[in-house]
Amino acid sequence: MLEYHQRSKHHLNRYAPGPGRLDWANQPDPFRSFAGAPTIKLPLAADALSTRYQQIRRGKLPAPREFDVHSVGILFELSLGLSAWKAFGSNRWALRCNPSSGNLHPTEGYLLCQSLPGLPTGVYHYLSRDHLLERRAAPGDPLWTSTFGGGGVVVGLSSIYWREAWKYGMRAWRYCQHDCGHAIAALSYAAAALGWQTRLLFAVSDESIAARLGLDRGDDFDAAEREAPEALLWIGADPSPPPLGCTRDALPDAGWLGRANRLSVEHVPWPDIELIHHATQKSATPDAATYCAASLPSPAEPALDPTFATLARQRRSAVDFDGETHLSAESFFAMLDALMVRENIPPWNVLASRPLVHPALMVHRVVGLDPGLYMFLREPSALADFKQSMRPEWLWEKRGPEHLPLFLLLPYDLRAIAKSICCHQDIAADSCFAVGMLAHVECARDEPWRYRHLFWECGLLGHVLYLEAEAAGVRSTGIGCYFDDEMHGLLGINDDRWQSLYHFTVGGPRDDLRLSTLPPYRTVP
Ligand SMILES: Cc1cc2nc3c(=O)[nH]c(=O)nc-3n(C[C@H](O)[C@H](O)[C@H](O)COP(=O)(O)O)c2cc1C
Repeated sequence: MLEYHQRSKHHLNRYAPGPGRLDWANQPDPFRSFAGAPTIKLPLAADALSTRYQQIRRGKLPAPREFDVHSVGILFELSLGLSAWKAFGSNRWALRCNPSSGNLHPTEGYLLCQSLPGLPTGVYHYLSRDHLLERRAAPGDPLWTSTFGGGGVVVGLSSIYWREAWKYGMRAWRYCQHDCGHAIAALSYAAAALGWQTRLLFAVSDESIAARLGLDRGDDFDAAEREAPEALLWIGADPSPPPLGCTRDALPDAGWLGRANRLSVEHVPWPDIELIHHATQKSATPDAATYCAASLPSPAEPALDPTFATLARQRRSAVDFDGETHLSAESFFAMLDALMVRENIPPWNVLASRPLVHPALMVHRVVGLDPGLYMFLREPSALADFKQSMRPEWLWEKRGPEHLPLFLLLPYDLRAIAKSICCHQDIAADSCFAVGMLAHVECARDEPWRYRHLFWECGLLGHVLYLEAEAAGVRSTGIGCYFDDEMHGLLGINDDRWQSLYHFTVGGPRDDLRLSTLPPYRTVP
């Protein structure tokens, strides 16, 4: 795991191994489908959902909706569903509520449910292009269905590494994990808008996830790209998930249907991705000890008060910032506040673990705040650790509201440095602030599967920033392309226990006026 991490770093003078050029003829199909699997069209019902984003971030969830084909349709529509089609000349491409590195979307979504109004018992694959479910398994055995629990549903996630490797080579595996984190967050927000809680089924092994989602069925994939099992999420009205058997023995034959489509004609093997995939396999483990977050006041209200449905579909990555917008200190602090773990509030309701990722901030344009380098410590015990690991000269001066663990390390104009660290991307300098997410990689040394969970946590943080930025009237962008050790050098990190696993940037967007936007499902692209 550590070897992969080192070798997949970008350096100022050398990028991580990649394909070198884009083989457009082999660009992977962005949509997986299973030919021969019966389909169930989901209604497009999200417009009728009145839950406001502000309610969700304060934990004031609506009364839980009944589970049926309508509510499950909304869950997928506002998480993994399409948010728009973009067009430039004769080119058309879909955007989704969940972001993805390079818009390549390696994450596939599955639904496992007992019989619900409008949805028979089954294992379903979600096809976002058509907003429908493909019924991969039609289990008849009540013992099997009982493993999914009652009073809720299970959503499964997998990754198709090739989708990202086609463009990004060895580093692609990291992006698949970020994207999985974003998908987890997107699901937990959409579930909360329906009054439901979301929990990661932590104990389950990857082998068991693969068996439950049908990913281990070699014949159904044949020459098609395989999917790596990632996560099972319990989504229900009750915050405590029912026990779910951890072993694959719980699965007798379930009458599987459908064959996966092939996404590219040819593939380039990336042995390092195989290596890290195997190194980070998770076996069955005891459940995680639940982290008890300190009780905090609700975060201040953002500038805008949209419905969650509007916000989820309007979320976009900025492609350019104006280099002028100044964010108010209130908006900045409210955004940071939303990154703090609060009980039963998405996306933090998903992971039970202690926060292991802490943002280092390069602040450029926040009214009343010195431009400079800051640390935001989401867990108080990290302070001593960071002080020990980082440059001893840092000021560590507390800034912002009393309950926010925000510390100024150095007042300085970091725009040029931010740009150069983020692979020379202007968006890191022209923003209001840029972020590097420092993760406690040391915790994954003995249990390498935890390395994946660190990327997921980064994706969760990123997703909060995406939604918070929209609600504040600005915009943000995830940044996977950055020079790892240059960021560590800036912070004066003197060991490899803390590593920057994801970057982000928030600012006043400048739209690309050459592109036109079409609604997601109501026009034929
Ligand atoms: C993990 C990850 C890494 C990304 N890295 C970059 C990046 O380095 N530079 C950039 O301009 N956009 C980056 N993006 C933004 C994607 O290009 C964007 O999400 C994608 O094009 C889909 O557009 P949307 O977010 O507007 O739906 C990244 C997004 C994710 C999720």
